[in-house]
Amino acid sequence: MSTKGSRDYRPLLHFTPPSMWINDPNGMVYVDGTYHLFYQHYPKEAHWGPMHWGHAVSKDLLHWKHLPIALYPDEMGYIYSGSCVYDRKNVSGYGTEENPPLVALYTNHATDGLERQCLAYSTDGVHFEKTIHNPVIPNPGLRDFRDPKAFYNPVKDCWSLVLAAGDRVHFYSSEDLKHWEKTGEFGPEGNHSPGIWECPDLFRVKTEDGDSLWVLVVSMLMPTENGRSRTQYFLGDFDGDRFTVTEKSEEPMWLDFGFDNYAGVTFQNTEEPVLIGWASNWEYANETPTGEYCGQMTLGRKLHAGKTEKGLRLISGFAGTDVLTAEMEPVGEQKELKSETFALRLKGTKKLVFANGNGEQLTVEVTEDEILVNRSSAGEKGFQESFGTERYSRLRVPRLRKDGELVMIFDVSVAEILADDGAVPITLTFYPTQPYDRLVTEGSGEVWISSAP
Ligand code: FRU
Repeated sequence: MSTKGSRDYRPLLHFTPPSMWINDPNGMVYVDGTYHLFYQHYPKEAHWGPMHWGHAVSKDLLHWKHLPIALYPDEMGYIYSGSCVYDRKNVSGYGTEENPPLVALYTNHATDGLERQCLAYSTDGVHFEKTIHNPVIPNPGLRDFRDPKAFYNPVKDCWSLVLAAGDRVHFYSSEDLKHWEKTGEFGPEGNHSPGIWECPDLFRVKTEDGDSLWVLVVSMLMPTENGRSRTQYFLGDFDGDRFTVTEKSEEPMWLDFGFDNYAGVTFQNTEEPVLIGWASNWEYANETPTGEYCGQMTLGRKLHAGKTEKGLRLISGFAGTDVLTAEMEPVGEQKELKSETFALRLKGTKKLVFANGNGEQLTVEVTEDEILVNRSSAGEKGFQESFGTERYSRLRVPRLRKDGELVMIFDVSVAEILADDGAVPITLTFYPTQPYDRLVTEGSGEVWISSAP
């Protein structure tokens, strides 16, 4: 058991594993009022290791119940990231029409690095059986070939999946979830950031003018100097086989501008897309000073597309957190913080300083043109060499909707900021050695704060 960690940093609202290591969200699916969240999990140590799929369920995306580990490593390798679908018509034949199965598609990563896509199914939503026909998609000779995200394809009325293949994604489709045929690729042209593509997702979002368009989300594993782990997206069209960009951009479009939101994908079978990401960064994820657990998820994020100063972009809203923002009280120049978990709203321009008695502080500032975040003196930072550097301490993000408000959910050691009415999401972790006990504000904007229920 790991001995790292100096105090309890476990967030209250953000999903964490019962203990030990967590990374990517996997298999997210909504069935009969229940959200299933599976996740990359190493249950023996508080760092990455042989990957399992952990499992939890929730009715509201805030309160989670832990379930037994769903998938264990096997003779084909570790269980890497993947997805689940609710096979309502039982096209796979693994359930019945009265009791449709959950079908999981995931990557087996062998000890020699070979990556292949495999299938497991469940008829009770808890226990999974791997099919003897695995792999269902063999490796075509690629080093990186992983993270299948299956989704219902409304254009061809079949199942499709998108997976990451080095510097691009591949699309496949299937009638029965078992036999898959490749239908196309996207990338690397159109990509503006260096790195290995991981954890793709393809889904449709509504636009604010009543239309809809397709979003291809890709997590980018980048060099240290580029921020290491960040999630990019492309806006465009899907003809049932292939994705094409319609909203061209000369720079990457980021799903989140913070340090800590990676590998995010959406739930299958929800009415509108709800995304959850892993709230960490491969640059330092294994070294964070959190003791008996390591890593957490973001909150649920509802997504749509809307016009911004730079054109059409994804707009994020919190999913399931209305209870936190329902009752809020105004904050003056100074406010004592009695809780480490709260929501905050800011209208206008202002600087917010969260401070503690050990001289540590986290600052968030909205100016006319930028959103600034500084965690360089927020708390512990010596646990890993990059964490305290300028690149990994300060953010300066140009504003995308200048009259927009900011909502922030602060949760012990992780905060999610949706600035500019959700056009500028920023997720970050920080490790104050004592709770911040006061909020000091400067500037003309108005601030409201709530306490967690
Ligand atoms: C992304 C990732 C995936 C892979 C998994 C392994 O964070 O590298 O590509 O499936 O983590 O845990």
